[in-house]
Amino acid sequence: MENQPKMTPELFHRCQDWFETYAAGFAGADGALPPMQQLKLEHTRRVAADARAIAAEAGWDAGAVELAAATGLLHDAGRFSQYAEFRTFEDRRSVNHAERSLAVVEQAGIPAWLAPDEAAILRDAIRLHNRPAIPDDIPAASRPFAELVRDADKLDIFYIFDDALSNDRLSLYPEIVLHVRLEGPPSPAVLEAFFKREPVHYHAIQTVSDFLIVQLLWLHELHFRPALRRVADRNTIARLGRHLPPFPEREAVLALSHRVLAERLDEH
Ligand SMILES: [Fe+2]
Repeated sequence: MENQPKMTPELFHRCQDWFETYAAGFAGADGALPPMQQLKLEHTRRVAADARAIAAEAGWDAGAVELAAATGLLHDAGRFSQYAEFRTFEDRRSVNHAERSLAVVEQAGIPAWLAPDEAAILRDAIRLHNRPAIPDDIPAASRPFAELVRDADKLDIFYIFDDALSNDRLSLYPEIVLHVRLEGPPSPAVLEAFFKREPVHYHAIQTVSDFLIVQLLWLHELHFRPALRRVADRNTIARLGRHLPPFPEREAVLALSHRVLAERLDEH
C-alpha cells in the first residue's frame, strides 16, 4: 500500500470512547441496552478486535492496523439508531444500515479527526461493508480495508449464529426467524447453489439450515489468510455443521467445505 495510513493508537481510542458513549446513549432507564443492541455492541467490539488482529498478521504497518480496527469498530454504528427507530435490523424494512452508519460517523465528525486519505478509506469501508460484493470502481487504497472489515464481519457472524443456535437464543434474531422455518433441511435451490459454488439469492433462504449453507459458501469470499486461519482454528465448519439436521447431502456439504478451506489456505 502506498501512502500508508498514519492513524495512531490515541486516535483509535478516541473513536472507541466516542463509540462506547454513543452506544450507551441507547440504554434504557435501567442502564441496559435492549438485547438486540447489546448484541450489536458486542459484535462491533469483536469485529474491531478481529480486524486489528487480521491486519497485524497480514503484516500491515501500525497506522493501517489502527485504521482497520477503527473501520471494524464503526462499520455498524448505524445499527443503534436503526433499531431505535424501526425496531428491526432488516434493511429492506428500514434503512440501508451501512449508509446509516456512515451518516452517524459523519455526524460525530470522526472523518475530520483523520487525514483526508484515511477519512476516504474509512468512509468507503463502512459504506460498502454490506454490499453483495465490493464494487470494481472502489479506490485502490480503500479496497484492502473494505475486504478486511467484510472478513472480520463474517467471522463474527459465524460466531453469533453458532452461539445463538447452541444456546437456544435465536429468538434474539427476529429479523431472521420471522421469515424462515427454524427446523428442516436446506432447501433444494440453496443446496444446488452450494454445490455449484454460486451465490444464494435472498429469496431462496427458507430455513435456518439455508443460512448455515450460505455461511459455508462464504469460505470462498474471505480475502485474508489470517481470516481463513481463524475459520480453521475456531473449528467453524464443524461448529456450524453441528446445527444442520440430517439430510442426504449433509456429509458432502461438510466435506466440500473442509476441502475448500484447505485449498484456500494452500493457495494463500
Ligand atoms: Fe453491518
